[in-house]
Amino acid sequence: MTKIAVFFGGKISRHLVLVRKAAKKLGVELDLISYNKVFFDTENGRVELKGKDASDYDVLFFRTTGKHWEEVDLILESLKGKKKPIIVDPIVEHGKPSFARKAWQMLRLTETGIEVPRTIYGSLWTLYEYMCNLTPQNIFSSASSRGGQAHQVSRVAAARCKNILSESSLHFPVIIKGSGGNRGERVFKANNLEELEKLVRELRKSETEDGRRYMLQEYIENDGDYRVLVIGDKALGAMKRSSQSRNEFRNNYSAGGKVEVAQLPQEIYDLAVRAAKSCGIAIAGVDVAFRDKERKRPVVWEVNKGPQFKGFMKATGIDAPAEIVKYLASLKDSKNS
Ligand SMILES: Nc1ncnc2c1ncn2[C@@H]1O[C@H](COP(=O)(O)OP(=O)(O)O)[C@@H](O)[C@H]1O
Ligand SMILES: [Mg+2]
Repeated sequence: MTKIAVFFGGKISRHLVLVRKAAKKLGVELDLISYNKVFFDTENGRVELKGKDASDYDVLFFRTTGKHWEEVDLILESLKGKKKPIIVDPIVEHGKPSFARKAWQMLRLTETGIEVPRTIYGSLWTLYEYMCNLTPQNIFSSASSRGGQAHQVSRVAAARCKNILSESSLHFPVIIKGSGGNRGERVFKANNLEELEKLVRELRKSETEDGRRYMLQEYIENDGDYRVLVIGDKALGAMKRSSQSRNEFRNNYSAGGKVEVAQLPQEIYDLAVRAAKSCGIAIAGVDVAFRDKERKRPVVWEVNKGPQFKGFMKATGIDAPAEIVKYLASLKDSKNS
């Protein structure tokens, strides 16, 4: 019988409890293992899982990775010279932590021919300068919407602006987005240069002291976006998320967004599967928005690793944990066949 290990950090989440229950119901052997169990002593040089050995399993699923890449690597190290289990999520086996970030995904998706919002990566001041350098008209138009008064850019900031006229599809409002971060917590909107400068000043500390990286993105008007749950080669279904407040542009459930079941054209499900594959994530939550009401021009915001699925289950009625367990259990057979 297939033996599966699912690794997690912090407390056991309700999602993981559901996965464990689903495994029990399906008669699949599945252990939830905390990263706290990872242990070694240079005396023997063996990385252990306190009583368990990663090579005893057929399938390893590193559901949480964010703060735990060190333990992930130590577990992978412990497999050296032993029978190697199947490792879920190709980026864990063949990639590196930065591959799970939004910046890398923007490049990867673009390379694969999947449209993403126009994105500029750089230090916060570079992003600010970029907007400064667009056109003086741009600055003026953002000011005119606030009563015709050209706003006062601080002298330090003004000095950074070279006022080079350039053609660009970028204009206010713009998005500033942390390359890492989820649940909408590092996604911001600036309506004009003044707001952008304020935002940059607020975020600078996180850039210099915590090493966070940011991107500038075109703002894509939308009445909601879609979360497609992808498992392997299959899109399980989709839910629509939409902000319920005029003052909130983010659709995330955690930002108060409404969640409802959605039917999308097959091409979009196929696109989500391709997006997940290109980002090296086998169990993925792919966030898709559209540039048009006809839903013909999709844009991918991001591909989430280890996606949450409670909201998805509630909206769609799909038993996501059972599907995840079935997929994990099927991997051994597909390797043997
Ligand atoms: N370029 C954009 N234009 C308009 N809204 C955006 C843009 N990028 C993100 N958003 C909004 O912010 C939300 C969170 O962005 P996302 O990239 O999915 O990051 P997170 O990992 O925080 O969920 C999206 O669901 C969407 O509502
Ligand atoms: Mg998202």
